[in-house]
Amino acid sequence: MELGQRLILGELRRRVRLPFGPVQSKESPSALLTWFLGCELDGERTAAGCKIGSMRIAECQEHEVALLDRHIPSPGVVSSHARRHARQQAGSSTFLVAWHDGQPVGSCEVRWDGCTAPEVQAAHGDCPEINGLGVWPESFRSQGIGTALIRAAEELVRKRGGKRIGLGVDENNPRAAALYSRLGYHPAAPYLDRWSYQDVEGVTHQVADACTFMIKRFQPDGS
Ligand SMILES: CC(C)(COP(=O)(O)OP(=O)(O)OC[C@H]1O[C@@H](n2cnc3c(N)ncnc32)[C@H](O)[C@@H]1OP(=O)(O)O)[C@@H](O)C(=O)NCCC(=O)NCCS
Repeated sequence: MELGQRLILGELRRRVRLPFGPVQSKESPSALLTWFLGCELDGERTAAGCKIGSMRIAECQEHEVALLDRHIPSPGVVSSHARRHARQQAGSSTFLVAWHDGQPVGSCEVRWDGCTAPEVQAAHGDCPEINGLGVWPESFRSQGIGTALIRAAEELVRKRGGKRIGLGVDENNPRAAALYSRLGYHPAAPYLDRWSYQDVEGVTHQVADACTFMIKRFQPDGS
């Protein structure tokens, strides 16, 4: 085995005990978080559960918003990426992006003020929320990227001393709900996810999706 491969395997072994430890990124020096997962273990799930060759997850930088808009679809004149980045700038969220080969392949936003739906705010307003989780293009799904984003979000909340984290899942998305259950999330509150966007003609579209807010409580052993 070559030295490079031994170093990579050593790093992966270390991450079995300490998954998602931070490392420095030359591309985004101001990013607080960067994770490398996988590396030369093609076709196998690594300790972190990610099947693609290599991936990093980092906070979104301002200059990356346009790239996200090009690669990852979002409705409306002001893209959801721009809005998520603006909230990050304001300090109310952390916008995480997964990168593979220089392309964004997924993202999610940790909203520190919790889910905005009044039904959820009333009961779980102090529970940070993973919002807008998605993996693109579709061919990249089911390879562990979504799970890696969720784990990264959980780690952020833990580092801030949080004891739990939540996310909303559409009632018509049983596969996603199954994934969240597997990762330790439990149904906590039904709610209507109300959101709107303005199309290129300036028309505002109101959307309301029936969802369930699911919560994961962190265990003392870090699971
Ligand atoms: C849901 C989603 C974020 C999961 O990300 P992912 O990278 O595919 O997830 P992982 O690879 O870590 O886990 C895959 C598991 O997610 C589940 N899953 C949920 N929705 C899925 C979808 N649309 N396609 C594939 N898998 C999906 C499956 O149970 C799958 O398990 P499997 O690999 O054993 O078949 C991603 O599939 C996606 O972007 N879906 C469309 C947008 C969406 O539904 N977002 C969730 C909003 S609550």
